[in-house]
Amino acid sequence: MKLSQTQARYQQAKQIIPGGTQLLSKRPEMMAPELWPAYFTQAKGCEITDLDGRRWLDFSTCGIGATLLGFNDDDVSEAVIRTVRDGSFSTLNPVEEVELAERLCAIHPWAKCARFARCGGETAAMAIRIARAATGRSKVIISGYHGWQDWYLAANLESPAALGEMWLTGLSPYGVPQELRGTGIPCLHGDFARLEQTLREQGNDIAAIIAEPCRHEPPSPGFLEALRQACDQYGITLIFDEITIGWRYRFGGAHLSFGVNPDLAIFSKALGNGHPIGAVIGNEKMRPAAEKAFLSSTYWTERVGPAAALATIAKMEKTRVAEKVTSMGERIMRLWHDSAAAVGLPLKITSQFGCLPSFSFTVPEPNALRTLYTQIMLEEDILTGCAVYPTLAHGEAEFSRFAQAVKRVFAELAPIAAEGPDCVRRHLRAPEAHVGFQRLIK
Ligand SMILES: Cc1ncc(COP(=O)(O)O)c(C=O)c1O
Repeated sequence: MKLSQTQARYQQAKQIIPGGTQLLSKRPEMMAPELWPAYFTQAKGCEITDLDGRRWLDFSTCGIGATLLGFNDDDVSEAVIRTVRDGSFSTLNPVEEVELAERLCAIHPWAKCARFARCGGETAAMAIRIARAATGRSKVIISGYHGWQDWYLAANLESPAALGEMWLTGLSPYGVPQELRGTGIPCLHGDFARLEQTLREQGNDIAAIIAEPCRHEPPSPGFLEALRQACDQYGITLIFDEITIGWRYRFGGAHLSFGVNPDLAIFSKALGNGHPIGAVIGNEKMRPAAEKAFLSSTYWTERVGPAAALATIAKMEKTRVAEKVTSMGERIMRLWHDSAAAVGLPLKITSQFGCLPSFSFTVPEPNALRTLYTQIMLEEDILTGCAVYPTLAHGEAEFSRFAQAVKRVFAELAPIAAEGPDCVRRHLRAPEAHVGFQRLIK
């Protein structure tokens, strides 16, 4: 079979780029190996053009959650282009970072200072450095995904399954110093017993508790308060990770809805709408540690990131994007539910938040079926899977095209799913999607 340019280029990439891509979630293998397009030439709104000129409607993770306003938003792109024309880098600093610090602290009145990085993982690492500097301790309680760095993967040194329980299977701590063993302590959201036990045994050695305030459902009643109380009692730094849920659930950090303030909160992704920017904001107590810790990088001083963030924040506020994506996501979840029920396709909705809709197939081997679903939707020129990150660009026309395709494809899948996993696999034109982290080249 002759490969498309897009597929052929990815085969070449795997020979020269270990891991194929720079982000696990952008590996085609995560969605539909050999079928999902790896590369784009243009992106606008929720439409992407690949190397072969084929145009795709995106109802998948839409820029892995980073482009809440849609790809290449006019206002953000305009601010970026203006910045590039005026000079995006010099010997001096971009004054936009001062305005961005003021803006973030105004949106989060508990915050009195801000530092900036460019990506989510390094922003999380910066927050951990500040927390360790503030407490003089090393250990960190972790309850979700916070990036690729040593401090985080160290949780898997104790047991390779530790982080898999919370997020991704297969993340082996290859390359992480063994000496970090015991510094990352997993504790699932809502696990009061494990939290209490950890604090009882190691409370005075813990530098930070880092957690998303919520992800697909409201926080377990009292859990955020328990984290806050534990931090106050043991002198621990509480960090809320708003990298994915921030701005999307509500304007600013999701934690603003739950009445619990952290000591530090971290943002990236949607903050720049596709342009690299990360922010750590902190309360007054955190300022001395943030002054004392060495946090310094050349490209943290470039100007596109903060300029994009200011334009993005202005537009997120003006368009009330959080409310729009919530309502679009609720429609998507109703569509999945009703279309599946109509044809007897076993499926359950797995998110309570319209801003991050998701479902799973409730069949014995759901991964084969989700791969087949993606494969058939690709034939409709639609990129999709079991989760959608709606954006401002998902309007009526896009929803209606998606809805028609979902209804048609669910009707096609139902009798195949009813026959069982072997029948599902017979319909796959390529290998099944990967689950979690796997090596690409054995
Ligand atoms: C909650 C959370 N924290 C941190 C990160 C890491 O961000 P990045 O991929 O920009 O390094 C992610 C990325 O998915 C995330 O969802």
